[in-house]
Amino acid sequence: MNFLQHIFTIFTFFLLGERILVDGLGCNWGLQATHPLPPDIVVKLMKDNGFNKVKLFEADPGAMRALGRSGIQVMVGIPNDMLAGLASNVRAAEEWVQQNVSNYLSRRDVDIRYVAVGNEPFLKTYDDRFTRTTLPALQNIQAALIKAGLGRNVKATVPLNADVYESDTGVPSGGNFRPDIHDLMISIIKFLANNGAPLTINIYPFLSLYLDSHFPVEFAFFDGHAAPIVDGSFTYTNVFDANYDTLISALEKNGFPSIPIIIGEVGWPTDSNTNANTQLARRFNQGLLSRINQGLGTPKRPTPPDIYFFSLIDEDAKSIDPGNFERHWGVFNFDGTIKYPLDLGHGRNLTAAKGVRYLSRQWCVMAPDANLMDPNLAQSVSLACTYADCTSLGFGSSCGGLDARANASYAFNMYYQTMNQRSGSCEQFHNLSVITKIDPGFHGGSCRYEIMIDTGRHQQARNPGTSAAGKMCSNCVVSWVVMLALVVYGYLII
Ligand SMILES: *[C@@H]1O[C@H](CO)[C@@H](O)[C@H](O)[C@H]1NC(C)=O
Ligand SMILES: *[C@@H]1O[C@H](CO)[C@@H](O)[C@H](O)[C@H]1NC(C)=O
Ligand SMILES: *[C@@H]1O[C@H](CO)[C@@H](O)[C@H](O)[C@H]1NC(C)=O
Ligand SMILES: *[C@@H]1O[C@H](CO)[C@@H](O)[C@H](O)[C@H]1NC(C)=O
Repeated sequence: MNFLQHIFTIFTFFLLGERILVDGLGCNWGLQATHPLPPDIVVKLMKDNGFNKVKLFEADPGAMRALGRSGIQVMVGIPNDMLAGLASNVRAAEEWVQQNVSNYLSRRDVDIRYVAVGNEPFLKTYDDRFTRTTLPALQNIQAALIKAGLGRNVKATVPLNADVYESDTGVPSGGNFRPDIHDLMISIIKFLANNGAPLTINIYPFLSLYLDSHFPVEFAFFDGHAAPIVDGSFTYTNVFDANYDTLISALEKNGFPSIPIIIGEVGWPTDSNTNANTQLARRFNQGLLSRINQGLGTPKRPTPPDIYFFSLIDEDAKSIDPGNFERHWGVFNFDGTIKYPLDLGHGRNLTAAKGVRYLSRQWCVMAPDANLMDPNLAQSVSLACTYADCTSLGFGSSCGGLDARANASYAFNMYYQTMNQRSGSCEQFHNLSVITKIDPGFHGGSCRYEIMIDTGRHQQARNPGTSAAGKMCSNCVVSWVVMLALVVYGYLII
């Protein structure tokens, strides 16, 4: 009895130690990458950097399994294209909950707290594609959660873009929901409130700047020097606060002054736009982190919301319809390396991903004897950039200043790496390219000449042979803890 108590005390001590380290940061984990970082490495990356909440855009089996017993709280998403099916069919919603919530909770111990029904379904650019299916899908999923006995611990919510509200006076107190979806928003919020679920909103100061060339740049940042906006007794020094309080005003006006809010996405991209670079991303994210660490809210709602950074890592296969910057939202590069320093609080720096395996150190570049005037060059570069991510080559981007030869080399190499350095993949450019083992060194400034993750080797590493070693290791952690407990126990009874 005594012995068990001591072990219990020691465990409690470890758990509390963990709590104190973690400040309650959330992040988004997107999977639209040609060479995704292995899920176990991503989970370790989150833990090493104090992210204890994660939002997924869908119930990806690899990601969900890796999150089991991680201590990370999960918001698991449902893609928009599933909304219609879930809205019209109660059984489909029950099956979704069974497969994607109940299973992972009971078999894998995944700490699922929220289901995100759809992703920004009322975006103006979607027209009305999801306005009729979102609320019924939300209702069916919430009912299915209750039926599965999970109603108290798992809440359904809908991540919405901040374009669901606006202010016709230009200041936060004028906030109200967009007229075309006003009544729908009220129905959704009423439903969320009745279920004790939060309202989830994505706020993007970067997009305010991107979409409006007259937007005062300084107002996008928390430490900016823009002229403050005075709104009655409140003063606003940054667009995040002003935007959030526009929402609070909209909620107050419609009778929901205290519904809990989650910021589902907020962040700053590092490439492929004049305002997307590591300096500005660092400035924005550091400002946000400092506020989170100080527990600061906004003038109208001083209690801070839970915040999920967008995003943890870059995704090179994301749609660039909204802009080339879409592939560069990560706090980390695609491979979990650090883009810029961040103080996570208590003087702690970011920690890079560990154990990443790369393809061989070789590159595909423009052949030294190839002619820049070759009529096939433009077409070859264009072929490479159709299949690989060349967003960093654009004007004002990190590799935008390369000369024509380095530019073509960048494109050829991205293609070669994206094709896993497959033999023949550097020979598709009309004899204009060669493989080299010498680092081409076009790194000037922040341009990165990538070598991709070896996803094949990571998959092999997860085969039964090696995972036995993984089990041994977790066993040895347990035996260490038990041994330590015994030593302390021995010391105590002496
Ligand atoms: C569970 O989620 C995955 C990923 O979104 C999806 O492919 C699958 O169809 C879902 N399961 C059910 C039963 O709807
Ligand atoms: C954090 O990183 C910065 C820049 O890389 C470095 O100057 C600083 O010493 C680091 N701080 C700690 C506590 O490691
Ligand atoms: C580099 O390649 C990109 C992508 O094809 C192209 O848009 C750009 O004009 C090129 N720049 C130079 C200097 O060749
Ligand atoms: C590449 O060069 C080889 C040898 O010089 C030639 O036989 C071949 O036709 C060339 N291929 C293309 C696509 O130009």
